[in-house]
Amino acid sequence: MEYLTLSQAKDTLLSEGLVVIPTETVYGLAGLATSKKAIHKIFQYKHRPSDNPLICHFSSINQIQEYVLPMHENILKLLEHFTPGPLTVLLPTLDNRLSPALCGQQVVGCRIPNDQKTRELIEIIGIPLAAPSANPSGMPSATTAQMAYEYFQEYPGGIIESDQSVIGLESTIIKYIDNTIFILREGAIGQKEIHQILPDIPVIIQTSNHTQTIPGAKYRHYSPNTPIYHRDTLHNITPQSAIITTKDTILPPIQKTTVVYIAESANPETIAHNLYQTLIAIDSLSVNQAYWYIPNLESESSIGKALKNRLSKVLIQN
Ligand code: TXA
Ligand code: MG
Repeated sequence: MEYLTLSQAKDTLLSEGLVVIPTETVYGLAGLATSKKAIHKIFQYKHRPSDNPLICHFSSINQIQEYVLPMHENILKLLEHFTPGPLTVLLPTLDNRLSPALCGQQVVGCRIPNDQKTRELIEIIGIPLAAPSANPSGMPSATTAQMAYEYFQEYPGGIIESDQSVIGLESTIIKYIDNTIFILREGAIGQKEIHQILPDIPVIIQTSNHTQTIPGAKYRHYSPNTPIYHRDTLHNITPQSAIITTKDTILPPIQKTTVVYIAESANPETIAHNLYQTLIAIDSLSVNQAYWYIPNLESESSIGKALKNRLSKVLIQN
């Protein structure tokens, strides 16, 4: 993978190659949503299970409307309010143009990312980009161009360089059924934010083991190779370990451990922003395990809840 200008990225994508794109949530590994060949490469590079559909990225609401059945006015309100931004809406497709990305589903996950370069790229190409998070399946999502480069360096294709993803956790995924909003994956936009726009509509979080679910919910996610244990205290810490904590956390004296600071303080926004980069950095330390020790992490806000959801998949409870 090499770093590309927008016009080189356009040429690569139009010739059915792949390009890593920056977004405000996490970086994505993008290909033309309409190209079987490009989508096949995405699944191959990521080792992604073949039943797990890809979110499609659009440059505008108008462009989404060219591919889906007429949408409910409440969904339109949410899109108008929250996009470009970290929201993905599952909508029934108008025809089969996006079918290469959908693994047999009749709905498409529609998202308008809030990164100027990426939206401009989609606009100049004029075709939506299918993009899963830029990571081999099961690993932490890339939140910097460097992380994506390290994951995919031996593959052909390119990377559009930009800043570290502002949010650091994947988009909220929602579906509208029978006048109810179901949140199928939690993200920075949560129940509270949706209620503010649609005060009379129930918003139900349904992230696993329910009839309404997303194929990706059943797979392992976000985990580095080193096991990371959740800890409320630091009794009985094994030497040659790492402790992931914040700078304002008071630690007892512990010998032969490496301390990794994820943030200045236990603020969920900052911790979410740095989460995946910190997790992957643990693999390059010579430790056998790490301990997550951040007492008092707030989980009332939507980003706090989304962070708690990701941690529940990464951390081993003991
Ligand atoms: O923030 C994000 O959403 C990032 C950036 C790159 O946009 N993308 C991302 O994609 O997180 P991925 O592939 O890592 O996760 C997408 C999830 C998967 O769990 C998948 O099963 C679900 O969305 N999904 C995608 N399309 C779907 C569809 N048509 N129907 C049901 N679930 C879908
Ligand atoms: Mg992913």
